[in-house]
Amino acid sequence: MRVAVAVSGRGSNLEALFARLGNGDEARIVLVLSDRPDAPALDRARERNVAALALRDWRSASEWLAALEAHSVDLLVLAGFLKLVPSEVIARYRGRIINVHPALLPAFGGKGMYGIRVHEAVLRSGAAETGCTVHLVEEEYDRGMILAQARVPVLPGDNAEALAARVLEQEHRLLPAVVLAAARAGLPVAIESART
Ligand code: GAR
Repeated sequence: MRVAVAVSGRGSNLEALFARLGNGDEARIVLVLSDRPDAPALDRARERNVAALALRDWRSASEWLAALEAHSVDLLVLAGFLKLVPSEVIARYRGRIINVHPALLPAFGGKGMYGIRVHEAVLRSGAAETGCTVHLVEEEYDRGMILAQARVPVLPGDNAEALAARVLEQEHRLLPAVVLAAARAGLPVAIESART
């Protein structure tokens, strides 16, 4: 399976994918895209001689589609991509775009809920538990079929950074597991968290 990964920032989930997919026999990252030319994640791709593309305009469906088609992409993974993918792209690749979100959706999702803000909202809510979700991408933020979730406790004395780190560790496990399961099944499928 030929995989494209879209990123906006540091790219630790991209790094986890590179590590877990190994030599790429089952799933191979062939393209990394970003809405930000200065995203450190683009350098992580270049270091591995993987095509790295800073989108001139992330709202332009034709730019996305040209890149995805040029690299014969089967699966698009949003790994810390914080903008909305153009709806024409979602329509063309429906069922083949997945996203990782740092909370147990449908809780703590939607517009404006990304990165550290998610963990701040979890702490404010007093929830005893949070986690991460991998789901199919639809036109609205953080909607679409849930493929896998991992649960993480909120501990006394946690701040948002500590909680983010605990959740991120699970994201690094869950996202590659879903990508490998998709490669084996030929398309994204729901997996039991116990099997990650
Ligand atoms: C991750 O925690 C990811 O779940 C989150 O951004 C972070 C990116 O980190 N995504 C969202 O909040 C999407 N709504 P990374 O660049 O180190 O992978």
